[in-house]
Amino acid sequence: MHPGESDDLLVGFDTSDDAAVYLMGDQALLLTVDFFTPMVDDPYDFGRITAANSLSDIYAMGGRPLTAMNLVAMPCSLPPEVTAEVLRGGADKVREAGAVIVGGHTIDDKEPKYGLSVMGVCEPDKVVRNVGAKPGDLLVLTKRIGVGILNTAIKQGLETEESQRDVIESMAHLNRAAAEAMLEVGVHAATDITGFGLAGHAREMAHGSGCACQIELARVPVWPKVMEYAEAMVRPGRTADVVAYLDAFTEWGPADFVWKSILADPQTSGGLMMAVAPSRADALLAALASRGEEAAIVGRMADGEAGTIRIV
Ligand code: CO
Ligand code: CO
Repeated sequence: MHPGESDDLLVGFDTSDDAAVYLMGDQALLLTVDFFTPMVDDPYDFGRITAANSLSDIYAMGGRPLTAMNLVAMPCSLPPEVTAEVLRGGADKVREAGAVIVGGHTIDDKEPKYGLSVMGVCEPDKVVRNVGAKPGDLLVLTKRIGVGILNTAIKQGLETEESQRDVIESMAHLNRAAAEAMLEVGVHAATDITGFGLAGHAREMAHGSGCACQIELARVPVWPKVMEYAEAMVRPGRTADVVAYLDAFTEWGPADFVWKSILADPQTSGGLMMAVAPSRADALLAALASRGEEAAIVGRMADGEAGTIRIV
């Protein structure tokens, strides 16, 4: 569905925005759905991380989540207590977000999957899209990257969920406070970093905004040990596809194959990336810091062909 097919549909799916935006009266409804196969073994953590990730699309658009519906696909061989733990994790996160679970649907499936369809609200003129960035805007990122690589290291038995506890907590961390800081200061565009990695989501933002984008390697915050695992080719299967996708419009510059793996690393429940006017950047960093949110300037939007990425 495209805006134009309905007068009330403000944002559909043609700009890869994080949620659809539908005007109802004087409120903008934000509508989104996400579901995942387990990224961790612990069912409670799987539930929490999935909910944080699903709620994130509402936060990325400057909204406030109101309701969520569970999508549950579990093998009938699985003990019901495991499914209950997944749902408890999801419910705890939804509650933390100030929203409520209002229903859902369960089916039998060989491979477990869990997700949520979330509805949120926003004032129509406060909706933050993933387009609208301007050349010169600074790109501010709120969570370190490399969790796809570390999740793979856990799956391969090189790390444990205990040794990577900080990473698991980061994935379970809501982007709520980051979104509040963003709304307080005002930004031109925002998105959350998920399956296309930092560079892939930067590309979507640049392409839709009609400008180019520059990422500064020295400023990109990466979790400990990500470099050495990337060097050893420990990375999700999807990374190669993302790198191949990026190749067509990316000047990799100093990025070797290790950095390519990191910039293309699919993130689970990654942080927000915001394009902010340079004059507002200090205020944004201060608003994030005052809420205890990590943040780094990772690059800038630039003049140039729409959607071009330059790594420096
Ligand atoms: Co998103
Ligand atoms: Co999504």
